[in-house]
Amino acid sequence: MSEDSPHPYQVCLATSQHLEALVGLESRLQGDASQFSLFDEFAHEMSRIWLVGSESEWVGYVLVRAIASEAEILHIEVDQRFRKRGLGTLLLAKLLRECEVDTVNLEVRVSNNGAQALYRKLGFVVTGCRKGYYSRPKEDAVLMQWNRIQG
Ligand SMILES: CC(C)(COP(=O)(O)OP(=O)(O)OC[C@H]1O[C@@H](n2cnc3c(N)ncnc32)[C@H](O)[C@@H]1OP(=O)(O)O)[C@@H](O)C(=O)NCCC(=O)NCCS
Repeated sequence: MSEDSPHPYQVCLATSQHLEALVGLESRLQGDASQFSLFDEFAHEMSRIWLVGSESEWVGYVLVRAIASEAEILHIEVDQRFRKRGLGTLLLAKLLRECEVDTVNLEVRVSNNGAQALYRKLGFVVTGCRKGYYSRPKEDAVLMQWNRIQG
C-alpha cells in the first residue's frame, strides 16, 4: 500500500496536542515498550514519535531517537486489532521520509519474524546479532540498519 494512496488512516508527528493520545496509547498497547514512558519520551529533546490512526482514534506509533545523522527506532507498535492492514508500513515510510538522517538502526527479537519482515520490506538489512540482549524471556537481538543511499 502506498502512503499516498487513499487510506482512512493518517500518520503524523506527535505534538503537544497529542499528549492525551500518547498516554492512552501507552496504556492500551502492550509489549516491550513498557520500558518507555511515551509522555517522557515526547519531552526528550532527541525523541520523535509518529502516530498512525485518526484524530478520533490513534492506533499505533513509532518512537525514534536521533542524534546527528543517525537514528534508532526504540519501538514500533500497532494495536493488535489493526495489524496487517499496512499501518506499520505507513508509519515506517513516513519516518524514513521525514527523519532527515542517513542511517536508522534498530534491534528486534530473533523470534519476531513479523517485525523483521516489515523492516526488510522497507529496506532494512541485518547487520549483526547481540547475544542475550533481551530479558523476560531472555533472547538474542537481530541488529538491522536502513541507509538512505541504499534504502
Ligand atoms: C510489527 C508490527 C508493528 C507490524 O505492524 P502492521 O501494521 O501489522 O504491519 P503491516 O500491516 O504494515 O505489515 C507490513 C509487512 O510486515 C510483515 N508482517 C507484519 N506482520 C506480520 C506477521 N505477523 N507475520 C509475518 N509478517 C508480518 C509482512 O511482510 C507485511 O507485508 P505484507 O502485508 O506485504 O505481507 C505489529 O505486528 C506490532 O505492533 N507488533 C507488536 C510490537 C512489535 O513486535 N514491535 C516491533 C518491536 S522491534
